[in-house]
Amino acid sequence: MISQTTLAIDSVTKSFGGLTANDNISFEFGSGEFVGVVGPNGAGKSTLVETICGRLRPDKGVVRLNGEDITRLPSHVRAIHGLGRTFQGGSLFPDLDVMTNLRVGGHARAGHLGAWRFMLRTRGSRQATRSVKEKALEVADRVGISSLLNVRAGDLSRGEQQLVALAIAMAGEPKLLVLDEPLAGLERAEIDRLLGVLAKLRIDDRVGVLMVEHNLEVVRMNCERLIVLDLGRVIASGAPATVLAETYVQQAYLGVHVGDVP
Ligand SMILES: Nc1ncnc2c1ncn2[C@@H]1O[C@H](COP(=O)(O)OP(=O)(O)OP(=O)(O)O)[C@@H](O)[C@H]1O
Ligand SMILES: [Mg+2]
Repeated sequence: MISQTTLAIDSVTKSFGGLTANDNISFEFGSGEFVGVVGPNGAGKSTLVETICGRLRPDKGVVRLNGEDITRLPSHVRAIHGLGRTFQGGSLFPDLDVMTNLRVGGHARAGHLGAWRFMLRTRGSRQATRSVKEKALEVADRVGISSLLNVRAGDLSRGEQQLVALAIAMAGEPKLLVLDEPLAGLERAEIDRLLGVLAKLRIDDRVGVLMVEHNLEVVRMNCERLIVLDLGRVIASGAPATVLAETYVQQAYLGVHVGDVP
């Protein structure tokens, strides 16, 4: 039986100078779920992603993974505990081919200990290198990019680049995936392809997905639950059709602030 994994954000606040990018945010998500995070530009979506994944420390509040406080754990340790991610705008090395990108991602995940072993070229390091390569081939097959392994990442379409980024995250065998705008700038067919891979991951491996996305139609049609941010606050959450029908949610997208709505 596959165990349940739950990430809980409890009263998280993060400010940059005088600007509160995340204001007392709380929610949970877990295995097999598909949750969308939406909100206008600057609403605090990426700040929330970075707080969940460990690149930012909240000023207040707690992040828990299966009840354990992980607020102070660095991101690579969170990855080992099953928290995978992709970055807004991508994070591939454009001059390296896809296979090398997959392998660099795998070695980066091996962390400090791994780096020492690789430098000393121990038997363990050679085994680790072999398993990184095998894992790279396996995830490339799963996301359908095996034919692109020798292509320079910079020559791929945006959709293909996002599939590579997803494959790198998947190689860490995440229990939960946090994706910051993976569909931005993608063609319709590429969007469907990526959503297909995510659906399979959720069904086959019970991976929980939290996805930041601007396209409201895409989240309405695909996500089970939405969290709407505006000015750092959660202004609505729940079933997509219900949440998006709210006048104040629509107004947030038109630039009217929540406080202005009677
Ligand atoms: N490192 C930083 N230093 C200062 N201000 C920041 C920093 N990161 C984010 N901000 C500010 O915090 C607010 C929230 O930014 P964030 O990137 O989280 O928004 P977002 O919802 O992801 O926006 P977008 O849809 O454009 O990606 C913005 O006003 C942004 O300018
Ligand atoms: Mg962002």
